[in-house]
Amino acid sequence: MFEALPPPETDPILALMARFRADPRPDLVDLGPGVYRDETGATPVFRAVAAAERRMAETQTTKTYVGLAGDLEFCRLLGTETLGADLQSRAAACQATGGSGALFVLARLLRAARPETVVHIPAPTWPNHPAVFRGVGLAVAEYPYADRAMRALDFDAMAARLEELGPGDVVLLHGCCHNPTGMDPTPAQWATLAEICARRGWLPLIDMAYAGFGEGWEADCAGMRGMMAAAPEALAAVSCSKNFGLYRDRAGAVFATVDDPARRAVVQATLEGINRNIHSMPPDHGGALVREVLSDPALRADWAAELEGMRLRIAGNRSALAEALAARPGGQDLSHVGDLRGMFSLLGLSAPQVDRLREDFGIYVVAGGRINVAGMNAAQADRVAEALLAVI
Ligand code: LMR
Repeated sequence: MFEALPPPETDPILALMARFRADPRPDLVDLGPGVYRDETGATPVFRAVAAAERRMAETQTTKTYVGLAGDLEFCRLLGTETLGADLQSRAAACQATGGSGALFVLARLLRAARPETVVHIPAPTWPNHPAVFRGVGLAVAEYPYADRAMRALDFDAMAARLEELGPGDVVLLHGCCHNPTGMDPTPAQWATLAEICARRGWLPLIDMAYAGFGEGWEADCAGMRGMMAAAPEALAAVSCSKNFGLYRDRAGAVFATVDDPARRAVVQATLEGINRNIHSMPPDHGGALVREVLSDPALRADWAAELEGMRLRIAGNRSALAEALAARPGGQDLSHVGDLRGMFSLLGLSAPQVDRLREDFGIYVVAGGRINVAGMNAAQADRVAEALLAVI
């Protein structure tokens, strides 16, 4: 049976996680996976999530099935936070196993609706994007995103390509904190993209995995909301992994806004059928915690405050690194690091440079030179800047 099975391609982020865990050296700096770390290097459980978990342990009386769409109250609350009440009210929705699970459900939905759909992804993007869509047999094409030097968004090239697309094309956009570049469209650029989308008739698919880590919750969601409001039909994959700290619990949701109510009902039933194929019913625990937090005003306020604290810490790390780099002029200019949003920056490092950072300096970064500034603390900024400039 398996003699002709080709070995799968390795995901560079997962390979790096395994390598980091196996490295016995003390004092490593992990700028690899998109995981938030605090000053001590820990990835904390949010206070509100821990409180919700305690409450659930005491009050939950059954573990019986919830339903094919998962917990619809979780979807309603999360949809209201991210899309806003209006878009949420005209969305088909279902619970998914984290952001990747949500993307997979959407890929299956697109495949069922129109097998010849082409999904256009930014160049560069997160490695799982092409893998998920190709994995269900959809065609994937790239549109320009970062400029050649990977230092700034090439909005003109991006917009020009999106002007060429039309019905039957799907355009995947990162809702905020673009992974891996950290470059997001400005509000005016989002408005232009929404106008192109409405005029050209392509379907937007927003991957929202880092809401709250860029400019703040409302600003981070604004581009996605404008885009989805402009289109008669639009898709969103929303992850709670980072902004609720629920990485391993796999909480996420799919939203499909569809103006026509009859079509929306068919989309809802199709989403539920896809869930039935994948796991019969999505796992409840992570979504139930999010529902508990978002439905309790005190827990919700505490969650929002803790998330804002994380955002500010990431921004502080970014400034500290940018200052440490600026204090050591010479070599390649990395000043763009200070202007980016969220956890990631892409430094365009070669494979030998990435290897040298790891082997000689104990600093882990993803192939291509993506760094996660949430993985360090401000006191490590000098060490990281020194090492980056030494290898470049
Ligand atoms: C990342 O980009 O590092 C994260 O989203 C983790 C992952 O699963 O790739």
